[in-house]
Amino acid sequence: MNAIKINNFTKIYKRKSKKVNAVKNLSFAINQGEIFGFLGPNGAGKSTTIKAIMGLITPTKGEILINGVSSQNPQSRKKVGYLPENPSFIDSLSGLDLLLFSATMHGIDKKTAKVQAYKLLEELGLKDAAKRPIRTYSKGMVQKVGFAASIIFDPDILILDEPMSGLDPISRYEFKNKFKELKQKGKTIFFSSHIIPDVEDLCNRIAVINRGSLIDIFEMESIKVLSTSGYEIFFKGNVCFDSEVLPGEIKKITVPSKDLLNTLENLKSKGEVEIVSINPLQEDLETIFVEIINKSKING
Ligand SMILES: Nc1ncnc2c1ncn2[C@@H]1O[C@H](COP(=O)(O)OP(=O)(O)OP(=O)(O)O)[C@@H](O)[C@H]1O
Ligand SMILES: [Mg+2]
Repeated sequence: MNAIKINNFTKIYKRKSKKVNAVKNLSFAINQGEIFGFLGPNGAGKSTTIKAIMGLITPTKGEILINGVSSQNPQSRKKVGYLPENPSFIDSLSGLDLLLFSATMHGIDKKTAKVQAYKLLEELGLKDAAKRPIRTYSKGMVQKVGFAASIIFDPDILILDEPMSGLDPISRYEFKNKFKELKQKGKTIFFSSHIIPDVEDLCNRIAVINRGSLIDIFEMESIKVLSTSGYEIFFKGNVCFDSEVLPGEIKKITVPSKDLLNTLENLKSKGEVEIVSINPLQEDLETIFVEIINKSKING
């Protein structure tokens, strides 16, 4: 069974006489145990979809199933952790209070909750601020305590709306490690993001959405292959070939992907050659993402 299944989800917001068709006939499924990224420009419909998964808004059309149970049924979210976009909490609570509240709300006994809360506060660098009111926290600290609150009760599925926005590089690294640890434990993570390297580093698959419509689902591995535009061949040998000479008598040639095999054969035929390394030249994912979005604008 899919962890999350979105079937023809459509959301039209109605404001007075104005209608906003925020998401149109969106369908895709997230498998158990995968880290699934949700990418799209501002206003694409990511948060709307996430809110519908969390039962915070009602679909205009279609349905969303969590472990086979409709998202309209609160029972579907018993084992789901959620971090909203720009989280805000009752700010007179301390970080520790928030974590204890989240844990006990999900049926964890007080003693275990306290142990878990301190463990997470320590891991996320919030131990010194544990008993301070959240209103004294920085943006990144609020994000971290919100993340801790979403995982303290050991949920099977995590739904995170831009979890790493506003975090410094070290905190992002810590979050990513936590994601990987949770994946190891078999958890399913669905998160939206604008930070391409984070998506690249973590996800098995990504869904790209623009102006409310799904553009496509991509396997991360296949994107990496698709993004290989050519190769650098480093070699040693006294052969006559149009190449750049680097220190250590190493020579370099750059070829498009389609010419790799021919070039290697050509090199071999010219004499004694030692291949030192062959490096793929990859277009960065940011460029590919922009291309995908721009193409969808032309086609849409
Ligand atoms: N409550 C609302 N009432 C009316 N329109 C809304 C409402 N919430 C969102 N929208 C509109 O729906 C569209 C999708 O918004 P959504 O917040 O889902 O985008 P997003 O992909 O999360 O964007 P971002 O990357 O900026 O967070 C936008 O055009 C937005 O203006
Ligand atoms: Mg959003």
